[in-house]
Amino acid sequence: MADAAVPPPAKPGEGEGVDRRGALILSLGWAGFIGATAASLAGTVRFLFPNVTFEPPQQFKVGFPSSFSRGVSERYKSEYGVWVCRNDDGIYCLISVCTHLGCTPNWLAGEDKFKCPCHGSGFYSSGVNFEGPAPRPLERAAIKIDDDGQLLVDKNHKFLYEAGQWDDPASFVTFTG
Ligand code: FES
Repeated sequence: MADAAVPPPAKPGEGEGVDRRGALILSLGWAGFIGATAASLAGTVRFLFPNVTFEPPQQFKVGFPSSFSRGVSERYKSEYGVWVCRNDDGIYCLISVCTHLGCTPNWLAGEDKFKCPCHGSGFYSSGVNFEGPAPRPLERAAIKIDDDGQLLVDKNHKFLYEAGQWDDPASFVTFTG
């Protein structure tokens, strides 16, 4: 009598489809595993190198006082976000951030004023606001003559007109040369 627990021997070609299907499932599994591992590794590497934005330095030199003629210089606006201004008394540095919502105003030399393109605020060359929604004047940055005779601006230290800080000697450089 034949043993019922022992399967009959496979005929040639029988079961190959099942083997191929198994191999396909196995390789898909491995592909998924490798993909997940690679994604996880990429996430780890991304974490090690965070997306840092580099700000320009807050303290910088802008040259010698004699290199500025009377009026507003836009030389350092794009690089440092300031205007260096000279009047009959000396030199001061305005920060090019609108005091309404923070846009960057433009200096309109022909109209002798700063004009904000966002909502139309206007500021005199002194920085005082006179039109539009800006609630207060532009801010000034600390400025002094450094040891080498060049002007040193420090945006870490700001001076507000409405707080009476524009009278602070650290907010301007007396220069009549
Ligand atoms: S941000 Fe300058 S007027 Fe609004």
